[in-house]
Amino acid sequence: MKLEKYYVPEKAELKLDGKVYELPVMVGEEGEKAIDISRLRSMTGCITLDYGYMNTGSCASAITYLDGDKGILSYRGYSIEDLAEKCTFVEVAYLLVHGALPTETELKGFSGMLNKYSLLHEDMVHFFDRFPPGSPPMSILSSMVNALAVFYPDMISNPIENIDKMSARLISKVRTIAAFSYKKAMGQPLVYPRHDYSYCANFLNMMFHSSVDPYEVNPIVVDALNKLLILHGDHEQNCSTSTVRLVGSAHVNLYASISAGISALWGPLHGGANQAVIEMLERIHLEGGNYRKYIEKAKDANDPFRLVGFGHRVYKNHDPRARIIKKACDDVLQALKIEDPLLDLAKEIEEVALTDSYFVERRLYPNVDFYSGIIYKAIGIPTDMFTVMFALGRLPGWIAHWKEMWDDDNWKIGRPRQIYVGPVARPFVPMEERSL
Ligand code: CMC
Repeated sequence: MKLEKYYVPEKAELKLDGKVYELPVMVGEEGEKAIDISRLRSMTGCITLDYGYMNTGSCASAITYLDGDKGILSYRGYSIEDLAEKCTFVEVAYLLVHGALPTETELKGFSGMLNKYSLLHEDMVHFFDRFPPGSPPMSILSSMVNALAVFYPDMISNPIENIDKMSARLISKVRTIAAFSYKKAMGQPLVYPRHDYSYCANFLNMMFHSSVDPYEVNPIVVDALNKLLILHGDHEQNCSTSTVRLVGSAHVNLYASISAGISALWGPLHGGANQAVIEMLERIHLEGGNYRKYIEKAKDANDPFRLVGFGHRVYKNHDPRARIIKKACDDVLQALKIEDPLLDLAKEIEEVALTDSYFVERRLYPNVDFYSGIIYKAIGIPTDMFTVMFALGRLPGWIAHWKEMWDDDNWKIGRPRQIYVGPVARPFVPMEERSL
């Protein structure tokens, strides 16, 4: 990736120990500014300290742009609103991985590969039997994706040349793994992928079809699923994507890097929030709907409780994904004629929180996870699989970042530094002289 053109004549000045250091300044395509500190340590002997990387750019990227203050999100220059309304998930996956929307022929080719690679090696299928009952599906997913590296090692030595096949294989097989883990958890026979179904219809059929209760593909549900997966497709340098890049920066294979990303996504502060939101709403509903008690708990500095589904590291304005999902939620529940008290509860909480000074001052708005679980619930996805659904959507984004990193001539193994605050050098104490 050639970055020279992004450097501007302006320099940042740093005064330290009586000296003035000049640091280069970059301006990205959308006007975002950065001070390039890559030579800071060699110039000054200093490192920077930035807990949670709140101010740290780890790379330049051409995949996703987001402006958290204005509530803007785009993939490869296309607004999330347009993509969610006009595309299928497969088209958006292609866009993320390849950088351009597919032509009809390209889409046909990509869909053909998704079909071709949809089966799992039968030896892998036996793995599902060895996980104890009740195993978290995210744990199964990250283990199985890591195992893909040993079942399909052929392309690993030349990843960039084989990236098309590897990404199609992953995007297709992760869907099969997700559906098989559900069937195994239910104790039902597996339903194998079909060539005559679209990506989302195939997933729903593998999840919900059974020989005694055939699944009828519902276009409303397929449409909702496409939307949800598109909205989760990428979100620049979030925790799991940064994990994929960091792990991949050691030149580990794509499958292992994605498996690490899945583990990062599992956390309740990240992708695990969609499950936590429904659990929170169910608890409030069971307790009679007294959500104000929970809003007060969330505001109490001495109470660790947080209103899950609210707040975001980057969005300090409405999360554009949450807006689209909220509307989709209304549409899907109406079309399926489902009345879910959790949706009313969520709307009431949103209304109260958005006018409460605690949330207003901290600029805490509903995020992507606040309403997504209500749709998943309506289409029959069990709560403990919500984060798996997030992973399914985020997968093309992770692949795109991994590929971009491999292609980047500015690539370096990720290795942050630290400020040591432990004991200074001291004499070794033999065992007999150590006291309790
Ligand atoms: N409920 C109550 N207070 C909150 C919340 C919340 N959900 N989120 C942030 N705050 C408060 C926080 O206590 C802090 O207050 P104070 O300044 O008085 O100490 C202030 O707002 C800033 O919070 P922060 O933790 O410094 O912000 P962050 O950028 O480090 O954290 C976050 C972002 C998403 C982890 C956080 O907002 C949170 O924990 N939200 C709930 C979990 C959640 O919904 N996660 C999904 C995020 S969207 C999906 C994804 O991209 O992964």
